[in-house]
Amino acid sequence: MENDFSKIVDEVLVDEETLEKRVNELGRDITKCYEDVEEPVLLVGILRGAAIFMSNLAVNINKPVLIDFMAVSSYGQSSESSGVVRIMKDLEETIEGKHVLIVEDIIDTGLTLSYIRQNMIDRGAKSVRIATLLDKPERRKVEVPVDFVGFRIPDEFVIGYGLDYAQNYRNLPYIASLRREVYEK
Ligand code: IMP
Ligand code: MG
Repeated sequence: MENDFSKIVDEVLVDEETLEKRVNELGRDITKCYEDVEEPVLLVGILRGAAIFMSNLAVNINKPVLIDFMAVSSYGQSSESSGVVRIMKDLEETIEGKHVLIVEDIIDTGLTLSYIRQNMIDRGAKSVRIATLLDKPERRKVEVPVDFVGFRIPDEFVIGYGLDYAQNYRNLPYIASLRREVYEK
């Protein structure tokens, strides 16, 4: 069957209920962190992986925010980071003088977030913080200060809730590891 995910899912690492609860908590933590900031915080979602997390996070932040997206590429179709980061779609808003919260799906080597963070600082953001749904700390190549982490996960390739394998499986409602047969064939 076309929509039978059991063929590609190895193990469910974070189920729907746990995701919902944690995203709600992150929203509360973020609200608290910016409670003394008068102006709206600019959420910068990194396409396409962060789209689902970003939407659910935004509605759990209890203060005015602005929403923008950018797309970068570092992976292509492979599952290994090349270390080369390119901006494929830039922000619509100027960020000078704004409080920026970068919203990412996963931090793996740290190369992508390290680049984006520096890029936001260089463009004159008033502050730059990072929220990531997932963190694979074992894989880190460069240190990046991450302010909000949903879940730390082991070094496995994961899909769902926005995360893809070769652009597929982003609409799984949970986070799952991918069966080895899928990426080794
Ligand atoms: P980094 O630059 O190595 O930290 O890579 C971060 C990017 O790699 C993320 O934004 C994802 O797009 C992708 N990525 C890393 N690990 C995974 C994974 O397990 N599943 C899906 N995408 C991943
Ligand atoms: Mg990504």
